[in-house]
Amino acid sequence: MPRIFSGIQPTGNLHLGNYLGAIRNWVTLQADYECIFCIVDLHALTLPQDPTELRHATREVTAAYIAAGIDPERCIIFNQSMVPAHAQLAWLFGCITPLGWLNRMTQFKDKAGKDRETAGLGLYSYPVLMAADILLYRATHVPVGEDQKQHVELARDIAAAFNRRYNTEFFPLPEPQIFGTATRVMSLRDGTKKMSKSDESDFSRINMTDDADAIALKIRRAKTDPLPLPATVEDVATRPEAANLLGIYAALTDETMETVVAHFAGRNFSDFKPALAERAVASLGRIAGEMRRMLADPGYIDGVLRRGAERAEAIAVEHLHLVFDMMGLLRP
Ligand code: AMP
Ligand code: TRP
Repeated sequence: MPRIFSGIQPTGNLHLGNYLGAIRNWVTLQADYECIFCIVDLHALTLPQDPTELRHATREVTAAYIAAGIDPERCIIFNQSMVPAHAQLAWLFGCITPLGWLNRMTQFKDKAGKDRETAGLGLYSYPVLMAADILLYRATHVPVGEDQKQHVELARDIAAAFNRRYNTEFFPLPEPQIFGTATRVMSLRDGTKKMSKSDESDFSRINMTDDADAIALKIRRAKTDPLPLPATVEDVATRPEAANLLGIYAALTDETMETVVAHFAGRNFSDFKPALAERAVASLGRIAGEMRRMLADPGYIDGVLRRGAERAEAIAVEHLHLVFDMMGLLRP
């Protein structure tokens, strides 16, 4: 069976974009793949994190996976730092990855900003750790958002470089799985900006832990233009806020944009928003409730992570030691 690896950073407020763009799609993959879903806490540390918040966010992402329907018996769910082999393989890969490859990574340029001299080494070598995450399990498929495609391609290049250097076919070349239908959810305050964990306005996003009242209030306050809803999909393209809200509705109801546009054409946002809120509450309400229940008693979550880490470790260590053999390191 082909193997999937993917991960989310525990860096605060999980939101509707994370759900529709990532987690919801992963739920459907469990049936056809052996799945490993990680909470990549080591990647989170590439930018400053408050320790208490990092711990909480790690549990929150775990709760979101489970509440959304990822089965912790069937899949492996664990946090990255509990399996030391990730960091070990990242070092080994760091020794065969040319700097030139890392210099091309656009995420580093975005995150480091203008002052490259003060950016951390971890932020720079982030994609090498990500390659280690994937290849440690010899994963074949990596479901990620468009923004991570370049990193998965680097993982392919590193796998190929290793295979060439050690004259082996040990590592499969992992495929990015970009969900064509996945919604890119935009901010509720600005239809041209991605909904993001780090936006300072909580009204910009629907958090996965928001209750029904909060969801309804945020949708009511969501930015719109003064026109009635567009009549055609072409008109939608010129109106970012309408496009975003209609896109969210379509994703939540599993309908096409055409169907949703036809349904609401010419109506006012004041008609549409309550319908959207109802759909959002119907989808997220149960998940949020389940997450809040789990987070109130983190013992269960911590148990899932511990068991997941044991299962992950068993695969990881076996592969790591084979890599040790090939590279000429003595096994412990
Ligand atoms: P991040 O929140 O950037 O750590 O991303 C975690 C996962 O959620 C990745 O697979 C992203 O592609 C996905 N994601 C993040 N924000 C959005 C968004 N606004 N719309 C759709 N998918 C998103
Ligand atoms: N870089 C990914 C993101 O920000 C998270 C990630 C870390 C990941 N390691 C991974 C995703 C391995 C897929 C596979 O979304």
